[in-house]
Amino acid sequence: MKIGIEKISFHVPHLYVDMHDLAISRNEDPGKYKIGIGQDEMAVAPLTQDPVSLAANAALNIVTDEDREKIDFVMFATETGIDQSKAAAVYVHRLVGIKKEARSIELKHACYSGTASLQLAKGHIALNPDSKVLIVASDIARYGLNTPGEVTQGAGAVAMIVSSDPKVLELEDESTFVTKDIMDFWRPNYSEYAYVDGKFSNEMYIELFNDVWGQYKEKTGGTLDDFKALCFHLPYTKMGLKALRTILDEADESTKERLLENYTKSTLYSRRVGNVYSASLYLSLVSLLENADLEENGKLGLFSYGSGAVGEFFTARLVPGYKKHLLPETHDKLFNARKQISVPEYEAIFVQSLPKDGSTLELDVEEDPNKVCLAGIKEHQRQYVIK
Ligand code: CAA
Repeated sequence: MKIGIEKISFHVPHLYVDMHDLAISRNEDPGKYKIGIGQDEMAVAPLTQDPVSLAANAALNIVTDEDREKIDFVMFATETGIDQSKAAAVYVHRLVGIKKEARSIELKHACYSGTASLQLAKGHIALNPDSKVLIVASDIARYGLNTPGEVTQGAGAVAMIVSSDPKVLELEDESTFVTKDIMDFWRPNYSEYAYVDGKFSNEMYIELFNDVWGQYKEKTGGTLDDFKALCFHLPYTKMGLKALRTILDEADESTKERLLENYTKSTLYSRRVGNVYSASLYLSLVSLLENADLEENGKLGLFSYGSGAVGEFFTARLVPGYKKHLLPETHDKLFNARKQISVPEYEAIFVQSLPKDGSTLELDVEEDPNKVCLAGIKEHQRQYVIK
């Protein structure tokens, strides 16, 4: 049986800051942000967009009534969840109109939980070939104003439908993984912001990539030449390139050229959004599929990294006709409709927060063009609207 991604789309907030402006205001050379880090724009989420609304907006791009009849599992991957107890998937289940005969769960493992969801969904479909799984991966990355991590913030969500009728990508069974208990990036319950050992996190990303790539070669006898493209978790777009470069010497010249060219295509959307944690690998996958010219049946390798840490390398094949099932116009429209804001405007939004003392807040959703918005908080409960 074939199992894989039938549909895939993403959503990002309607506001962004240009990295040239951010660099100037942080007394940095814009080259550091745009070339050294590899980011051009950073998505900014106002209070009316939280991980749930972003996820619901992404899911509404792909879920049809026909899908609603078959989806019996909603998985919500996030590391910026809104509740310690209630699963964010339950809100999405309602906002997207999924039938009641469904499981809805939230998964956490830093940026790895999107991949954990995909592998669990594969198992679910293997046991229930007539059903479909809706996966949403959604995060708002916040390190704080004037911090080294600030340039790697971002916000957005990816939605995927996994089924036994994969129209985009068929998942293969080849997969290698590793767990290592380290403190490279974490966010204690009491903290609004992530704690990060930046240089160490870069080293660990590369170490775990080399580990799973080594395991993959040993287990399968595969080589780089087998791949049309490699896709990476992108905390910032230079990171995947640093990892890729560590193994490129294993390839012949034409493979090297192909992998580098396709790597660039996989980073185009992330350059304009920033880190979306659990959704980041899948945003780079959509960018690759929509911007590169890849052969049908071509093999892709995907590297997922979640701090703390877990790394996984897995492979997939492009389904013949996959281009017809992508949504480049929807995504183009989304990017073109965004509004650029100044650094002071971004800073003003950044310091706003929802009440933490149980008081009521009504938000002005008229200003927010997105279909699903957070309209406020009342009696400790988030109020969502579908416009
Ligand atoms: N022109 C071009 N390039 C320039 C430049 C200029 N004028 N000035 C500096 N650069 C280059 C530097 O040479 C450097 O390049 P290399 O990394 O290739 O050597 C790059 O710009 C960055 O410069 P610094 O290393 O000095 O940057 P920094 O110390 O300010 O911080 C960072 C960079 C560590 C990534 C920081 O942004 C950070 O902590 N980010 C958050 C953590 C993170 O994203 N870690 C990634 C791995 S962990 C993970 O993947 C999980 C996750 O999602 C968080």
